[in-house]
Amino acid sequence: MSEKSIIGELSDLAARLSTHTLVSLLSDESQRMAHLGIQAPGIFADFSKQKVDNETLECLLKLAEVRNLTGFFAAMAAGDVVNTSESRAAQHMALRAPDGAGAMALGKNISKSVKAERTKMRAFTNKLRAGEVKGITGRPISTLVHIGIGGSDLGPRLLAQALHRHKAPGITVRFAANLDAADINDALEGCDPEATMIVVVSKTFSTRETLANANVARAWLVQHLGADAPAKHIAAISSNLEAIKAFGINEDNVFAMYDWVGGRYSLWSAVGVSLMAGLSGGAFDELLAGAAAMDAHALNTPVHANAPLLSALIQFWNRNFLGLQARAIIPYATRLALLPSYLQQLIMESNGKSVKADGTPATLAASPVIFGTEGTNAQHAFFQQLHQGPVPVPVDFIGFVRDQEHNPAQHKGVLANMLAQSRALMTGTPENPAEPHKNFPGNRPSTILLLDELSPFCLGALLAFYEHETVAQAVLCGINPFDQWGVELGKHVALDLQDRLENTDTDGMDPSTATLIKRITKPS
Ligand code: F6P
Repeated sequence: MSEKSIIGELSDLAARLSTHTLVSLLSDESQRMAHLGIQAPGIFADFSKQKVDNETLECLLKLAEVRNLTGFFAAMAAGDVVNTSESRAAQHMALRAPDGAGAMALGKNISKSVKAERTKMRAFTNKLRAGEVKGITGRPISTLVHIGIGGSDLGPRLLAQALHRHKAPGITVRFAANLDAADINDALEGCDPEATMIVVVSKTFSTRETLANANVARAWLVQHLGADAPAKHIAAISSNLEAIKAFGINEDNVFAMYDWVGGRYSLWSAVGVSLMAGLSGGAFDELLAGAAAMDAHALNTPVHANAPLLSALIQFWNRNFLGLQARAIIPYATRLALLPSYLQQLIMESNGKSVKADGTPATLAASPVIFGTEGTNAQHAFFQQLHQGPVPVPVDFIGFVRDQEHNPAQHKGVLANMLAQSRALMTGTPENPAEPHKNFPGNRPSTILLLDELSPFCLGALLAFYEHETVAQAVLCGINPFDQWGVELGKHVALDLQDRLENTDTDGMDPSTATLIKRITKPS
């Protein structure tokens, strides 16, 4: 069967399914939970409240076959060129494979360097936690200020917050990302320069925000500790060794990044060194183990029982055949408040594209608009619209079976809310013509990802789940999920505008920008 005819069949199925409700699908398909409740490492994924039936699933599975989804994953794991616009491999899985065993990138064995870098990270962070990494005055370093943005920030920041219960005693990790100087100023505020190390993370070492913040931090060190301080108080993680040298960072404090790992897939590399330092003992290794377990599941499980790939098929269906243009991510955990931001970058920077890998226009979309915040807070913010707004928004609900806060009643309350929202979105209410403002249409799809606990292992599995789901959706649409050319234009325009703001130069500008330049540079 050709791809075209499968797509045609999917459109017919969507029209037919519009007469079914989620409630009827759940009651009519006796095997629904067996087919759509998938146990993956650390996560039970319940897709049964998504608007697919057996026939739709079969058709989506055919598409996966025609698109060679499993072949793509095998090629990615083998280190072949899967990032075609940059002729690169995408070997984030090698970073969490136990000892990087046998990993290749573009035909080169990379396991040695993966292993060496991991050993270096462990040695540095063990020493740091033992108080053996000393500053220029001989005081042990106990605070790390992690400077980076996008993929060089979001993962470590998310997990440092999420794994608060696994925090290493005596080590503080702070973060600064934004070009707004308030961010670096706040991060440095109250830090003791003698006991502080700045960790600059930038794959390219050319990102404006990061370099600006790194310069502020370096000046702060010099001001307090003298010109020789940066050599002892700055570490860098980058693939641009020349730029690091030019910045004056001591080679001993440098960790490598590789061109075969994209920024938003790089948490598992030395990008995570400050996170590793801030967590007690083996927590970072458990995180890698959880991700590696999800990798094994993604690579070795048939698509119909493969949690991330099945999820990709369903999201692809939602976006392209049910016309659902947004997707809400709601973790029922305060400590996962940053997960929606992390996934915005992962999913939208990977898949927010309109051109296929072969350069032709993409006829299918791989990314909805991602938004979210933590439950239960989200319920008091935008759930009104999720329940009664004109357009349904599919939701990912993420919850944890085990209570970590020694408050079982409140924990059950949190889970009850999560289950209630998913169920209420599905069932709605019977029509009440007398009070139409109180009607809930229901029939709104959601997924529940039920994790065992808020542990490093489960979070590693969760993030790897979303990575694989993202890549799989890109494969279904034929786009490249590993480049991000869409961020370039804005960067160039900003550089030009910085000069114009310095010189009140409005030459050749459109009337809107010209007016605003004048208002900024010559306030009345
Ligand atoms: O936003 C564009 C981007 O290139 C992201 O892909 C990346 O994670 C971020 O900027 C930071 O890049 P770098 O690590 O090179 O500073």
